[in-house]
Amino acid sequence: MSVDVDEYRRAAGRFASGVCVVSTRLGRHDHAITVSSFASVSLDPVLVLVCVHADARFYDAVEETGTWGLSILSVAAQPHARWLATPGRPVVDQLARVPHRPGPLTGAALLEDSVATLECATEAEHPAGTHVVLVGRVLGVALAPDGVRPLLHHRGAYTGLADAP
Ligand SMILES: Cc1cc2nc3c(=O)[nH]c(=O)nc-3n(C[C@H](O)[C@H](O)[C@H](O)COP(=O)(O)O)c2cc1C
Repeated sequence: MSVDVDEYRRAAGRFASGVCVVSTRLGRHDHAITVSSFASVSLDPVLVLVCVHADARFYDAVEETGTWGLSILSVAAQPHARWLATPGRPVVDQLARVPHRPGPLTGAALLEDSVATLECATEAEHPAGTHVVLVGRVLGVALAPDGVRPLLHHRGAYTGLADAP
C-alpha cells in the first residue's frame, strides 16, 4: 500500500510547529539551516533531536564538528528563517545580516531573535530515509526574557500565537 505523498505533506503541514535554526561552526564558517523537526527527547540525560536532510550542507559540517547550536526562533526572526531555508544561498557570510553570537561552549552561532537557545554535542545519528535523525546531548541553555513571542509554522506559512504570554 502506498501513501499519496502530496496528501501526506498536507497532513503533516497541519501539525503546527515551532521554527528553529540549527548551526555549527566549521573552521571560519558558520553553517546554518531552518528546521521544524526539533523535539525534546529525554531529561536524564538531557537529549533533543532534529531531523536533517542528508544532502544539507549543514549535515556535512556537523558530521565533522560534532557540536551544534539550536535557536528556537521568535516572531522577529521570520526573515532569517526564510533566508536560512533558501536553497543555494552562499555558505560564506550567510549570517552576515542575521544578528547572532557564538555559543560560549561550542562556538556555534546562536540567533539573537530567539525565545531560547541550546548548545549540543551529537550523541547519536540514525539514518532515516532521506534524512538523518541527529540526537544531541544538551550542554548549555539560554532563555530570552518572558514576553518574547515564538515563531510558528502551519499549513506552509509562518504565523504566531494569538495569545502567548
Ligand atoms: C519551516 C521550515 C522547516 C524546515 N524543516 C527542516 C527540517 O526539519 N530538516 C531539514 O533538513 N530541512 C528543513 N527545512 C529545509 C531546510 O531549511 C533547507 O533545505 C536548507 O536551507 C538547505 O540548506 P542547504 O542548501 O545549505 O543544504 C525546513 C524549511 C522550512 C521553511
